[in-house]
Amino acid sequence: MAEIGTDLLKAKQLLSEGKLVAIPTETVYGLAGNAFNPDAVASIFSVKNRPSFDPLIVHVASYGQALSLTKEVPEEAEDLAAKFWPGPLTLLLQRKPIIPDLVTSGLETVGIRLPNQSLTRKLISSLDFPLVAPSANPFGYISPTSPQHVNDQLGDKIDYILDGGECHVGIESTIVGFENGKVSVHRLGGISVEEIEKVAGNVTIELNSSSNPKAPGMLANHYSPATPIIIGNIEQLLEANTGKVAGILSYSKEYSRDYAKTLAPDGEVKTAAKNLFAYLRWLDSQPLDIIITELAPDEGLGMAINDRLKRAAAKKN
Ligand code: TXA
Ligand code: MG
Repeated sequence: MAEIGTDLLKAKQLLSEGKLVAIPTETVYGLAGNAFNPDAVASIFSVKNRPSFDPLIVHVASYGQALSLTKEVPEEAEDLAAKFWPGPLTLLLQRKPIIPDLVTSGLETVGIRLPNQSLTRKLISSLDFPLVAPSANPFGYISPTSPQHVNDQLGDKIDYILDGGECHVGIESTIVGFENGKVSVHRLGGISVEEIEKVAGNVTIELNSSSNPKAPGMLANHYSPATPIIIGNIEQLLEANTGKVAGILSYSKEYSRDYAKTLAPDGEVKTAAKNLFAYLRWLDSQPLDIIITELAPDEGLGMAINDRLKRAAAKKN
């Protein structure tokens, strides 16, 4: 198992040697390596078992550092960064050649994000390179929101997990791109479409999918637990599945029975986002035949939650 701790010097040393360290962010834990070191980048793909055509996000400690990695920055991108950085927003910008091809899977854009997590920002500030960091889970599985989640799945493959406690947003960053003068959301995430539109005007939503694998991290069956998930009306689904051991993941109504979790007992969508991956993981670790769940109200952060639930429920092909 990997060591879990808050030793920034140790994390810095490992990263400087080209090794990988799991880092906390406000969204999910990342599996970090030196973005300028192609060997470190390659080992991220291998530890996660991730296909090399799925690009990585570069994490920076300041807006100035983001500028040092990119060519022109569209005005909307500048406005979005000013409003939401540090925070759960990734901007797709034209990369400078200093970013290795492997990071972007050969694309001319690079995803950049300034996370809102003080330990991680301190760490990146202390380095003379930015960090690439995909979510610290095996490819296709649920993202980790605590150091223990990382250790459970990747602990034998990495040396150190920087402990920032539980992630307070709990769902990945929103990815925004700027193509042909228009602003598009490529992944629903911690900042809602409504909030993006207040700053950047109308956006199109172009979620990547298996049929359009530009960002294959958005494959239909991403975030999949091993236990089958069914989405719908919980009571009806329970009746239709009486012969099976069913777990329940409800939105705000509480069920007093075994294997039942409620995402937002307080009815707050933020609470639901924060709990989503931990509860899915917990249910997936129980002796269940199926997990029965329902969608969140489809607005704001609820859209990102529903996107994750639908992908988790999609059949593996
Ligand atoms: O919140 C987050 O963004 C977390 C934390 C650790 O920062 N990171 C994260 O990384 O979710 P990952 O690798 O699990 O997901 C990154 C997504 C993938 O779907 C990838 O295809 C897409 O970002 N992506 C990265 N660079 C891209 C690019 N240049 N163009 C299009 N999509 C890109
Ligand atoms: Mg991921």
